[in-house]
Amino acid sequence: MKQIISIVLLAMLTGVTAAGQKTDDVKQSRQAVKQFFGQLKGELQSAMKAGGPVNAIEVCSEEAPAIARDVSKEKGLQIGRTSLKPRNPGNAPDQWEKAVLKEFEQRKANGENPKKMEKHEIVEQNGQQVFRYMKAIPTGELCLKCHGSDLDPAVSAKLEKLYPEDRATGYSKGDLRGAFTIIKDL
Ligand code: HEC
Repeated sequence: MKQIISIVLLAMLTGVTAAGQKTDDVKQSRQAVKQFFGQLKGELQSAMKAGGPVNAIEVCSEEAPAIARDVSKEKGLQIGRTSLKPRNPGNAPDQWEKAVLKEFEQRKANGENPKKMEKHEIVEQNGQQVFRYMKAIPTGELCLKCHGSDLDPAVSAKLEKLYPEDRATGYSKGDLRGAFTIIKDL
């Protein structure tokens, strides 16, 4: 009897700790996204103001990965961006990310606000438990200069040169452009 009680207690305790850990991971992921997005948007806006979208392309191609590396290191996780139609093939989604991106599209079609859309799950990868998190990125007005349908020819030319496999144009305001994605080893 005693043994059963301790097993039950242990199971409950483990459950509580796991749930607490997950809440912390979600909070930390939200903070990481906020930091990444805030910094990137700030740099993007000032580069656009200073030299227009052609000039700002460099911010996206060089600063975005650099900011992602800094935030990842600081928070002890891996943060990046992904999309069903990536500009950089290096940002292509893995299987879990692809499923979540499709789920986000479905949730949006069902009327959910994409600004608040997120998903987290603990999954097994290569025999290891990892925490995964994604947050949707809706397309705003600013984004259309480089992800819209009617691009300035100079912008198109530069994008073509840097990203010959670019699939990230033709978006309208409010569309899901992609998502932030986080992996954390547990
Ligand atoms: C000045 C041009 C420019 C603007 C404006 C811009 N982007 Fe991008 N975006 C890029 C470039 C270049 C990349 C490829 C970055 C890389 O190589 O990782 C990119 C990549 C991305 C990615 C990563 C997935 C992929 O397609 O490779 C997302 C998500 C994204 N942009 C969202 C946005 C959103 C949301 C906005 C508006 C807030 C925005 N972008 C505004 C140029 C731009």
